[in-house]
Amino acid sequence: MAEKATLIVGDQRIELPVIVGSEGERAVDITTLRQQTGLVTFDPSLGNTAVCKSEITFVDGERGILRYRGIPIEQFTNKPNFVEVAWLLIFGHLPSRDELTEFSHQLTDNELLHEGLKHQFQHIPVDAPPMAILSAMLNNLACFHQEFLAVEDVESLTAAAARLISKVRTIAAFSYRRSQGLPLIYPDPNLRYCANLLHMMFSLPYRQYIVSPEVEDALNLVFILHADHEQNCSTSTVRTVGSARANLFASCAAGVSALWGPLHGGANVEVVRMLERIHEGGLSAEECIRLAKDKESGFRLFGFGHRVYKNYDPRAKILQGTCERVLGSLNRRDPLLDIARKLEELALQDPYFVERRLYPNVDFYSGILLRAMGIPTDMFTVCFAIGRLPGWIAQWKEQHEDADSRIIRPRQVYTGPNQADYVPIDQR
Ligand code: CMC
Repeated sequence: MAEKATLIVGDQRIELPVIVGSEGERAVDITTLRQQTGLVTFDPSLGNTAVCKSEITFVDGERGILRYRGIPIEQFTNKPNFVEVAWLLIFGHLPSRDELTEFSHQLTDNELLHEGLKHQFQHIPVDAPPMAILSAMLNNLACFHQEFLAVEDVESLTAAAARLISKVRTIAAFSYRRSQGLPLIYPDPNLRYCANLLHMMFSLPYRQYIVSPEVEDALNLVFILHADHEQNCSTSTVRTVGSARANLFASCAAGVSALWGPLHGGANVEVVRMLERIHEGGLSAEECIRLAKDKESGFRLFGFGHRVYKNYDPRAKILQGTCERVLGSLNRRDPLLDIARKLEELALQDPYFVERRLYPNVDFYSGILLRAMGIPTDMFTVCFAIGRLPGWIAQWKEQHEDADSRIIRPRQVYTGPNQADYVPIDQR
C-alpha cells in the first residue's frame, strides 16, 4: 500500500501521500494541504522543498554522488564530448552517431550571430561585465529568432537549442574581444566546440591561435562538469521564468543573471580573487579561515559549502586532479594551486567546517584550471554559463512537456501592517 504521512493540526488529522523517487528519496505531497486545512508550508529558501519531479540529474549530497540521466559523473571524464552530453541531458539518451553528427552540423550552421546583433557589441562599454553582456545578448536572440518564441514540437526545440548552444559561445568570445578592444574573430566551422571558442577568444587576424589538445580536453571537461546540477538557483530561475511560458531565450537569460551571483556561479571568480589576495600577501590562509568563521566579518570561504553536498563535491575532486594534470602537461606551476590545497587542508581540519560539513565545491578548483588554460578571470562565470546551458534547456523542455506543470507562484506569510488608512500628504 502506498505510504502516507499523517499530519495533526489542532483537532484536525489529515493524511498526505508520500511520493518516492527512483533512488528512494521520499517526499510528502502537500499540494492539497491548504485546501484541506487552510495552512501553507514555510520554507523560505526552499531548502526542504522539492519543486518538481525530474528525470535529468541525480545528486546524493550525503554520499557525494552526481549522475546525468543515471550515468555517474566520473564516467564523463575521459570519452564523451560536451555536445554528446548536451544531447544526453536534453533528449534523455546518448545520441546515436547520426544524431550526434546531425546536431553537430546544426551547431556549426548556427555559429554566426546576426549582423544586427553583432553590431550591438560596439555600443557596450569596454569594461562591461561579460555576464551582463551574456544575459542581455541571450535575451536579444529572441529579437532575431522570433520563430522560436513559441516552441511547439521537438524539431523546433532542437533547432532553438542548437542556436543557443552554438551562439552562446560566439557571444562569450565577442564579449571578451570587446573588453580587450580587439577585433571580433568569426567562428571557424572546421573546429570542434571548445576549440572554436578558444579560437574566437584568442586568434588574431591572420594569426590563428593553435589550440593545444590538453587545453581543449580540459575545457571540454569543465563544460561537462557544469552541464547540469538539478534544481540549483539558476536552474530554478529558468524554471520559474519558463513556468510563465516565457520563451527559451528569455528563460536562459534569466538563468545567466542568477548564475552571476557570488554565492552561485560567481563564486569561481571570488575563489581566485581570494587566492590572489593570499598570494600577494594581503591575507594569510589562516586569517582567511578565521574570517570565514567570524559571522561579523561578512566573509565566506568561497568555493566551500553547498546546499546539497554534505560531502566532497565529486566535481571538485575531478577538477583538483585535472588542475594538477593540465598544469603538469603545460609545464606550468601555479602558486594559487598550492594555496588552495593549503586552505582546503586547514578547513577540513577545522571544527567549524567539520561540524557544518563544509567541503570544496565545484568552484574551488575550476578557476585555477581555467587560469591554466589562459581564460581571464572575468570569463570564468561565463564558462560556467556555457557549460550549464544544456542543463537549463533540458529542464525547460522537461517542464514544458509535463502536463501537470503550472505557473510557479509561491505563497508567503504576510507580516506587514494590518489594514490602515491612506493619509494625504499635507497631513503626514
Ligand atoms: N564559509 C563560511 N561559512 C559557511 C560557508 C562558507 N563558504 N558555507 C556555509 N557556511 C556556514 C553558514 O554560515 C552556516 O553557518 P551557521 O550554521 O553557523 O549559521 C552553515 O555553514 C550552514 O550553511 P548552509 O545552510 O549549508 O549554507 P546554504 O545552503 O545556505 O548556502 C552556499 C550554500 C553554497 C551558498 C554557501 O555554502 C556559501 O556561501 N558558499 C560560498 C560560496 C560558494 O562557494 N558558492 C558556490 C556554490 S556551489 C556551485 C554553484 O552553485 O555555483
